[in-house]
Amino acid sequence: MSISVTVYRGDPAVDSRGFRQCLGQFSTGVTIIATEHDGRRAGVTANSFSSLSLDPPLILWSISRTSRAFPIFSEATHFAVSILAEDQIPVSQRFASKEEDKFASIDWCPGQNGAPVIKGSAGRLECTRHSVLDGGDHLLIIGRVTHFEREERKGLIFSQGRYSIGLDHPVLRSETSSAGAPLTAGEASLGSLVFKAHLKSSRSFDADRAALGFSIGQARILYVLSEHPSLPFEELVSLSNFPSQTIEDGLTDLTATGGVKRNADGTFCLTDKGRELRATIRERSLSRETEMLRHIAPEELATAKRVLERFITQADTAR
Ligand SMILES: Cc1cc2nc3c(=O)[nH]c(=O)nc-3n(C[C@H](O)[C@H](O)[C@H](O)COP(=O)(O)O)c2cc1C
Repeated sequence: MSISVTVYRGDPAVDSRGFRQCLGQFSTGVTIIATEHDGRRAGVTANSFSSLSLDPPLILWSISRTSRAFPIFSEATHFAVSILAEDQIPVSQRFASKEEDKFASIDWCPGQNGAPVIKGSAGRLECTRHSVLDGGDHLLIIGRVTHFEREERKGLIFSQGRYSIGLDHPVLRSETSSAGAPLTAGEASLGSLVFKAHLKSSRSFDADRAALGFSIGQARILYVLSEHPSLPFEELVSLSNFPSQTIEDGLTDLTATGGVKRNADGTFCLTDKGRELRATIRERSLSRETEMLRHIAPEELATAKRVLERFITQADTAR
């Protein structure tokens, strides 16, 4: 049985951030939608993408009317959707930024219809424009897919305002021995044990963080700024690995509570209070970890850490 402890309610007309956070409970993939129209190239990060119809093959997405790319997409007769793979957070960050040339330093090429596609993405769909519909502050664009490509890669996930990766749920993935009995820890794969351990520890720490009154974005800002004396917004976004909206929300809250201040040159830094807040979070997370590991002997812990470090290095070199 699951018990929900906190319920946030609101009217979207007066609480647009709360509304956005509620929508963020719906996990999506992350795409780059790009076009080249009348010699002008444009691309945006979009998670409004969705499949629509198999016959005819249609997809949809929506573009904000405030996007600099809006005038181009509202006229473009074709575009390409690149479904980002789980190692492509930097690509997502770049196409969600206000960079002048988002395509510089990105590995892309023109697709069959000329629209840019992102190399190494998990999937690519080239489309002609089928129709457009008014969608409030967005324009809904429906595309007819003329060509698709899929790579054997897993897609990046976006959920609750942060990037995530998809792993089989441990409940569904109950590994069993050849006799059909559940696997003991000694028989289970290391990957599945690491996943279960991560899930359980991060869930308990998420609750601690929320109880301390911090959003995930605030906690990440405090961490990143504790490692750097001051940072401009774009760099803070890039180092946090969170989308700019999550960081913007976190900065608004932390500035209001006096934990972060904006310097005259526009950069952000921690105040004394911010350093205290960061210390509180760190202390809580360390004591939670110590409490969880209290029955494990120090030499066993040291071995576990060494094994995991080697596992990570080898997984990196095996790619
Ligand atoms: C994960 C994620 C999903 C996004 N989804 C959309 C979307 O579906 N439609 C949209 O117009 N903007 C979306 N954005 C915002 C745009 O990517 C971003 O605001 C925009 O590209 C900024 O630059 P521009 O003015 O050059 O378009 C998303 C951003 C992120 C980080």
